[in-house]
Amino acid sequence: MMVDIDRLQKQSGIIGTSEKIQQVLKMIAQVAPVDISVLITGDSGTGKEVMAKAIHKAGRRAHQQMVIVNCGAIPEGIIESELFGHKKGSFTGAADDRKGYFEEAHKGTIFLDEIGETPLETQVKLLRVLETGEFMRVGEAKTRYADVRIIAATNNDLDELVKKGHFRPDLYYRLKTVMLNVPALRNRVEDISPMVERFALEFTRSNDILYRGFMPDAVRLLKQYDWPGNVRELKNFVERILVLEKGERITAEMVQRELSDAFAPLTEKNIHLPVAVDQTSDRAEIDIILRQLFLLRQDTELIRNLIVGKAVDNTGIISNMPLVHDAELGTAITEKSMEITEEGHSLIRDDAIGDMQLKDLERDAITRTLRFFNNNRRKTARSLGMSERTLYRKIEEYELEPKIKRRRV
Ligand SMILES: Nc1ncnc2c1ncn2[C@@H]1O[C@H](COP(=O)(O)OP(=O)(O)OP(=O)(O)O)[C@@H](O)[C@H]1O
Ligand SMILES: [Mg+2]
Repeated sequence: MMVDIDRLQKQSGIIGTSEKIQQVLKMIAQVAPVDISVLITGDSGTGKEVMAKAIHKAGRRAHQQMVIVNCGAIPEGIIESELFGHKKGSFTGAADDRKGYFEEAHKGTIFLDEIGETPLETQVKLLRVLETGEFMRVGEAKTRYADVRIIAATNNDLDELVKKGHFRPDLYYRLKTVMLNVPALRNRVEDISPMVERFALEFTRSNDILYRGFMPDAVRLLKQYDWPGNVRELKNFVERILVLEKGERITAEMVQRELSDAFAPLTEKNIHLPVAVDQTSDRAEIDIILRQLFLLRQDTELIRNLIVGKAVDNTGIISNMPLVHDAELGTAITEKSMEITEEGHSLIRDDAIGDMQLKDLERDAITRTLRFFNNNRRKTARSLGMSERTLYRKIEEYELEPKIKRRRV
């Protein structure tokens, strides 16, 4: 049985007319009906998860669930129990018998995202389950069986990881029987125009914003940019510009301004940052730092307005200040400890020093960065310079989000 490509494209919501995306679709159509494992590779934001869902939905297991596991986000200590389950009492905290993701995905599909991040010891067990469907719960000697289709994804170079001894070659060879590479957006610029159109329509519709379209020149400019964050970045860009230029027809000038806001300010704007600009470093990283600063500045502005508009008593404590929405400003600490100078440079009030802990700042930074990246943990971790595991631990510690990202399709 061969899947019809047009139907597949409609059903999966995969946008793109380029030869490259058509090839991806063709491959999905070929592999979806066969119960074979697939390894999806591609840079960040290229659409690996979208493709994984499309494979699941076009296959025989479509009516069963697809369990999504972000292997990079689960702490090493509990990854096996998460994947394979555990027996009551098998380790401290194992209060009950518990099913793992593989058992939950029985008859369906499991999507092992960021598979390159899996610890070596776990990789042996993955290989076994991949080959035979067999696994054991932690603390149990009984072999169990799960009928699961495996789709894995990575944006690591697994070849490289194998060379360095971080990834088992046997698992790699087993996984790469069917490899689906999702190309970077800059290598399929024809897709930009239909993507912009669709993202813009969806966003303006669901937010009740008047949409007047993008001028052809504006789209042309978008095609010249190299989109290090790929489709995710394009989507965010479209949404941001539609908010900033509400109700306007989007011109090339607007696009130019927004794009250069992101990349030119180091030299042109009045931001004096001790940022070492490494020519080889990912431009996206710089983008991230700057955007964080812009956000911070916006918040600063907001607080300043609140202070100016409201009573500030002679102790310097703001009375009756309407509670700034928590999610907007992170913690209450922020309100209490911020000092807004004219230049907006000094952010922590001197008298808050001693009162304020590094963890408050950390929590705030994590909350905001997560929000900035739409809860994309890998990007958040990278931009904050911590490992994804550390980020995961801190999210738990600060109770920022429910335990483990676990979704069903
Ligand atoms: N071809 C496409 N058509 C429509 N939307 C897309 C397409 N590719 C990606 N997207 C959208 O772009 C965003 C990122 O896609 P996705 O999460 O699948 O990327 P990813 O490769 O898994 O990224 P990461 O490496 O960061 O995990 C999502 O909002 C997704 O819906
Ligand atoms: Mg992904």
